[in-house]
Amino acid sequence: MRTDTGQVFRLEDYRPSDYRITHTDLLFRLDPHATLVTAKLTVERRDGVAANAPLVLDGDGLVLESLGLNGAPLAGEGYTATPDRLEIRAVPAEKFFELEIVTKVSPVTNKALMGLYQSKGNYCTQCEAEGFRRITYYLDRPDNLSTFQVRIEARKAEAPVLLSNGNPVEHGDLADGWHYAVWHDPFPKPSYLFALVGGDLGSIHDTFTTASGRKVALGIYVEHGKEPLATYAMDALKRSMRWDEERFSREYDLDVFNIVAVSDFNMGAMENKGLNIFNDKYVLADPETATDVDYAGIEAVIAHEYFHNWTGNRITCRDWFQLCLKEGLTVYRDHEFSADQRSRPVKRIAEVRNLRSLQFPEDQGPLAHPVRPRRYKEINNFYTSTVYEKGSEVVRMIHTILGPEKFRAGMDLYFERHDGQAVTIEDFLACFAEVSGRDLTQFALWYHQAGTPRVTVTTSHDPATGDFEVNISQTVPPTPSEAVKKPMHIPLAFGLLGPNGDEMEMGSVEGAEVNDGVIHLTAASQTIRFRGVGSRPVLSLNRGFSAPIVLNQDLTKEDRLFLARHDSDLFNRWEALNSLFVEALIAAAAREKEGKPHDFDAALVEAAIEIAGNDGLEPAYRALALSLPSEADVAREIGNDVDPDAVRAARDALRREIGGKGRDAFRRIYDQHADSGPFSPDAASAGKRSLRNVLLDYLAAAEAAPELAALQFETANNMTDRAAALTVLAHQFPEHEATRKALAAFDARYRDNGLVMDKWFVVQATIPGAATLERVKSLTAHPAFSLMNPNRVRSLVGAFSSGNQTGFHRADGAGYQFLADIILSLDRHNPQVAARLATAFRSWRSMEEVRQLEARKALERINAEASLSRDVKDIVERTLA
Ligand code: PHE
Ligand code: ZN
Repeated sequence: MRTDTGQVFRLEDYRPSDYRITHTDLLFRLDPHATLVTAKLTVERRDGVAANAPLVLDGDGLVLESLGLNGAPLAGEGYTATPDRLEIRAVPAEKFFELEIVTKVSPVTNKALMGLYQSKGNYCTQCEAEGFRRITYYLDRPDNLSTFQVRIEARKAEAPVLLSNGNPVEHGDLADGWHYAVWHDPFPKPSYLFALVGGDLGSIHDTFTTASGRKVALGIYVEHGKEPLATYAMDALKRSMRWDEERFSREYDLDVFNIVAVSDFNMGAMENKGLNIFNDKYVLADPETATDVDYAGIEAVIAHEYFHNWTGNRITCRDWFQLCLKEGLTVYRDHEFSADQRSRPVKRIAEVRNLRSLQFPEDQGPLAHPVRPRRYKEINNFYTSTVYEKGSEVVRMIHTILGPEKFRAGMDLYFERHDGQAVTIEDFLACFAEVSGRDLTQFALWYHQAGTPRVTVTTSHDPATGDFEVNISQTVPPTPSEAVKKPMHIPLAFGLLGPNGDEMEMGSVEGAEVNDGVIHLTAASQTIRFRGVGSRPVLSLNRGFSAPIVLNQDLTKEDRLFLARHDSDLFNRWEALNSLFVEALIAAAAREKEGKPHDFDAALVEAAIEIAGNDGLEPAYRALALSLPSEADVAREIGNDVDPDAVRAARDALRREIGGKGRDAFRRIYDQHADSGPFSPDAASAGKRSLRNVLLDYLAAAEAAPELAALQFETANNMTDRAAALTVLAHQFPEHEATRKALAAFDARYRDNGLVMDKWFVVQATIPGAATLERVKSLTAHPAFSLMNPNRVRSLVGAFSSGNQTGFHRADGAGYQFLADIILSLDRHNPQVAARLATAFRSWRSMEEVRQLEARKALERINAEASLSRDVKDIVERTLA
C-alpha cells in the first residue's frame, strides 16, 4: 500500500519525460498467485536529451524477476530496482532501444482492485489512474502514447475467455491444457487504458455497422447464466454508437468492442480502449431485479464509457491535472445523450438535484478544489463530482455562450486538431475561442477557481418609463488556499413573464451583453436596464440552470408560485416550487427547535396538489416536482449550526400536511397510473411508476398506516415498485410488523444476489433516526455483506454515512465512530474506497457544536493511525485543516 510520504504533485512542475515508450509488447502467463508478466518496451530517447540520462520507470509494489536490454541480460550495476521504481543507468547510446522486464504479480491477493486482480475467480485489470505500475515498470503517465500487442496465456479450464484491447490477432492451444490469445491495439494509448480479462464467462453478441460501413462485432461478457440480463446494456450500446455519429460525427474505429461485467469494482466503469470493464451494477438488468433508476444508470454509463473512445482515448489528457478534459466533457456528452433518449427537462432537473446534493457540498467544504486542480497528493481522490459534474456544467456553459453551431464547430476542430494527442484544458478552450472569435480568458476561471458563485439579484420596474432594472452581483466564496476570487463570466438564460404568464417582448437592453435569451454577467456587479417593458414582469432567471451557481433573487412567494404555474421553462417551474419547499422547511425546522407548531402556507400545499393532477405535465416531471427536498438539501441551505433532527421533523410534517390535504386526489392518481400490461423500462412507463411511488409516500404519511405500501410490496411485478414500497415501509414504519415481514421476504428471495441485496442494505441504512446505527452494525454481519466488495460497502456504510442525516450525525458521535472503524479496517486492503467513505465527514463544520466535537474526535482518531494510506490521509488532513 502507498502510505503518505508528504509528496505533493503540482501542475506547474509538469515536464515531458526524457524517454518515450512507443511500442509495448506484453506477455501474461496467468496464475492466481504468480502471474508472470513479460514486457518488451520499445524506448525512444527524446531529441535533446543527454545520451547518459537515466530511464526512470514507475512501479508500485512490484517484484522484479529479470531485466534485459537490447536482447542481453542487464547487469546489476546498470540499474536500481525497488518495488516502486526502476532506474536504468546503462542506457544505450542509440535513439531507440528495447527493454525487457519480467515481473511477478499475485492477482488473487490483490484486494485493492487496482492492477491485475481477480473478481469471482476471473482475472481482470484496472489501470486508471496509476494501476498499470502494479503490473510492470512503465512510464505510467497519460502523455506516453504507445501501441500495444498483448499475448495472454492461461489454463483453458480456468480462463477460456481471453480479452485485451484492440483487435484479435490469433489464438490457439498450448501444451498441458493451456491456451493463448493475441490482441493488437493499433491506436497509441496511455497505459491507464490498458486492460486484460481472462475468465470463464458467458456472453452475448451483436453487430453494429458504422456510418461509413465498418462492421463492428459487439460482445458483452458476464457471469454464466446472467446473459439475458445484458440485453438492455447491448441495446444502450448500439444507441450510444449511433448517437455519437449523429450528434458529433464520431465513429467507432476498431473491429470489435467488448464490455465485461465484474462484481468487484472500485468505480462505475472503465473506458479501456475496445475493452470496457464495468461494475456489474451498470450492465445487468431485468424487471425482476433492476429499478427504473438502474436502467437509466446503465444507459448513461454505457454511453459514457463508449463516448470516451473519442473524448479520453483518441484524445487523452497530458497529465492528471487535466482529468476534467476527458471526464467533464464525457459527462456532458452522456447527459445530452440521455436527454435525447428520455425527457430533456426531467433529465435536467435530475442532474441539478444531483449536482446540488453532491457537488455543492464539496465546493462549499474543506475538500473544495477547482475543476482543474493545481495540486494533489493522491490523484484517486480527484475523481470527484467537481471534476465530473461541475466539469460537465462548464462545457454546457460553453454551449450556452457560443450557441449550438459554434459549439459544434469547436468540437469538430478539437477532434481534428488533437486526434492522437495528450492535451490540456487550454488546448480545448482554444478551439472554441478560435471558431467563435470570443475571448474565453475570463470564462476559463470556471476551470481555475473553486467555489460555487453566489449571485444576488434585485429588480425594479417603473411603470411611467417602462424601464425594468435588474441589479446583479456575484461573489465567489473563499475556498482552501484560495482566499480572493475574481468575478466570473456567468451566462444566465432568462425570460420576462407578463401578468398573464406569457413571455414578454422587450425593447432595447443596456448594461450587459444580452443576446439569444442570455445575460452575460462578467463584472462583480452590473445593472441591466430593459426598456419598453409596460407592466411589472416576473424575471425567470438561470433558466435550465444555465450556470452552476447559488441564486438569491428578490422574488416574492407570489412570484414564485406564479413561475411554478406559468414559466415556459420547465426547469424554472420546478425550481420555483422547489425553492418554496426549501424555504418552508427551513422555517419549519426553526419552529421545531423552538417547540412551536407548524404553519405551512396553504397556497404552497395547494400548488403541490395541483401539479400532481396536472395532465399537461408528464408524470416523471410531476414526480420530481412533488419530491420534497431531501434532509441534506435543507441542511445545506441552512448552512451552519444544523440540527438534523429538527430538519427531519420539519420534512415529515410537510409530507403529512401535503399528503393529508391531497389524500383523495393522490389516491385517485395513484390508482389511475397503475401498470397495465407487461413491464417496459422506457422513460414514459418509468415516469408513471415514479409518480405513483412519490404519491405512495404521501399517502402512507397521510394515513399513518402501512397497508397500501404493504399491498404494493406484495403485488408488484417489478423491482421499481417493490423497492419503492419497501422504502416507504421501512422509512415510515421501521418497527411495524408489516415492515419486518417485507424485509424478511426480500432477504429470503434475493439473498444470493448481491446487486439486489444492495437495495435492501440501502433501504435499511437510510431509515431516519438514531436507532439505525445498531441496525447497520448488525447488518455488517449479514451473509450478503462483505467488506471486500465495494458495492456492498457503498450500499450499507456509504448510504448510511452520506444518506442518513439523523443516523450518521447522531448527537452522541456513535455514527462518526462507526464510520471511523470501518474506514480503518477497509483502508488495510482498499484505500481508494476507504478514502471515498471518509468524504462523508466533509460537512462536519456545518453541524451544531456538540456534533462538531464528536466528528473531530473521530477524524483525529483516523488521522492518528500510523500506517494510513496516502488516499485516506489526504482526505482526512484536508477535512481537518
Ligand atoms: N474513467 C472512469 C470513468 O469515468 C472512472 C474510473 C476512474 C474508473 C478510476 C476506475 C478507476 O468513466
Ligand atoms: Zn469517465
